[in-house]
Amino acid sequence: MSTNDPLRTFVTAMTHVVERHDGNEAALLDAGASLLGGLVASDDWLAEAYAVPSADRYRQYLLHLDARERFSVVSFVWRPTQRTPIHDHLTWGLIGQLRGEEVCEEYAVTEIGISKAPRFVHRLRRGEVDRVSPRIGDVHAVSHGGSPGAAISIHVYGANIGAIRRHTFDPATGTVKEFVSGYDNA
Ligand SMILES: [Fe+2]
Repeated sequence: MSTNDPLRTFVTAMTHVVERHDGNEAALLDAGASLLGGLVASDDWLAEAYAVPSADRYRQYLLHLDARERFSVVSFVWRPTQRTPIHDHLTWGLIGQLRGEEVCEEYAVTEIGISKAPRFVHRLRRGEVDRVSPRIGDVHAVSHGGSPGAAISIHVYGANIGAIRRHTFDPATGTVKEFVSGYDNA
């Protein structure tokens, strides 16, 4: 990886953002969203190995893990019709759309679980950046947006997202399950 690699440049800048805005999530998300918007403005840097979809389910490839696990960078790759379960993150997150489009259904957290239906549905288009966190809204389901080909987004989370214990939700039954997502690369 050369020093001109956009991902490497992003990681260096994001490391500074995480250090500078430690303890101020709103400022961190503002600065990080600006950086991530710059990264996904061009689609010429993601290694092909981390852009490969799979027939059975969406894929998540770890691109970078901070040495102190203060943040992780992951590529998510969807084929048409693929979607995540409804899930939480339990940390701040930024989602930048690199290729294609995705649909995000946001759920409200209630005293008994989550809302029966999404409180808000929006489409993430190429170059756009979305945000999640327990402070601003942390439960959603994400699906391929319907255009031809794979949809790819670049995610940044304030933890080693593949290793932390999180939850999926079934609004029909109220069932909450723990899961650890892992990564699809080693
Ligand atoms: Fe998510």
